[in-house]
Amino acid sequence: MKLLLVGAPGSGKGTQGKALASLYGVEHISSGEVLRVEVRAGTSLGREVAAFQRRGDLVPDQIVFDLVIPAVAAATAHGGYILDGFPRTVPQALQAADVARRLELTLDAAIYLNVPEPVLLERLLARARPDDTAEVIRHRLEVFAETTNPLIAYYRQQRGILVEVHGDQPQEVITAEIQARLADR
Ligand code: AP5
Ligand code: MG
Repeated sequence: MKLLLVGAPGSGKGTQGKALASLYGVEHISSGEVLRVEVRAGTSLGREVAAFQRRGDLVPDQIVFDLVIPAVAAATAHGGYILDGFPRTVPQALQAADVARRLELTLDAAIYLNVPEPVLLERLLARARPDDTAEVIRHRLEVFAETTNPLIAYYRQQRGILVEVHGDQPQEVITAEIQARLADR
C-alpha cells in the first residue's frame, strides 16, 4: 500500500498516518517529523531547517528530498508507506513522480483530509507545538492555500487518484471511511 495524506496544518495527517500505517502494516513517513528529527540532532542542516519551520515557511525542496527520499525508498522495500506531508507542492509532486517511476514506488491514492479552518485553528492552538502560535498558524494556513491547494487539484485532475474525506469527525470514523473508500476502488 502506497498512500499520500494531504491536508492543511492540523487536518490530522499525523493522526491518520499512524492509524493507517498500523492497519496496512507499512511505515508512516511524516516529512515534518523527518525534518524535526534533523532539528533535534542539532546539525548545521538542522539549524537551517529550524529557521523555516519556526516561521511556518516551506523548507527548500533539495533539503526535503535529500532527507525524505531515502526513508521512502527503505519503506518501499518493506511493502509500502503512508506519506504524510510530502509531496506538498505541485513541483515536489512532479519531481517525486519522476523518482517514483524509476524506483517503482508510484502512489496508489492521495487522501485529502478536508477540515474547516476554525476547527484547524482550535486543534493547533490546543496542541501548542513551537510552530503553533496564532501568527505562525495563520502563515502556515496561507502557505497551504497557496501551495498545497494546487496539489489537491493535481491529484484529482491530472492523476485521478484523489480520495477526499471529511476530516472533522472522530478519528476512528475517518480511518474506517478511508479504509472503505480504498477497498471500493
Ligand atoms: P508538518 O509537520 O507536516 O506540519 P503541518 O502540515 O502543518 O501539519 P501538522 O503536523 O501540524 O498537522 P497534521 O495534519 O499532521 O495533524 P495532526 O494529526 O498532528 O510540517 C511542519 C513544517 O515542516 C512545515 O511548516 C514546513 O516548514 C516543513 N515541511 C514539512 N513537509 C514539507 C515539505 N514537503 N516541503 C517543505 N517543507 C516541509 O493533528 C493535529 C491536532 O489535532 C492533534 O492535536 C490531534 O490530536 C488533533 N486531531 C487529529 N485528528 C483529529 C480528529 N479527527 N478530531 C479531533 N482532533 C483531532
Ligand atoms: Mg503532522
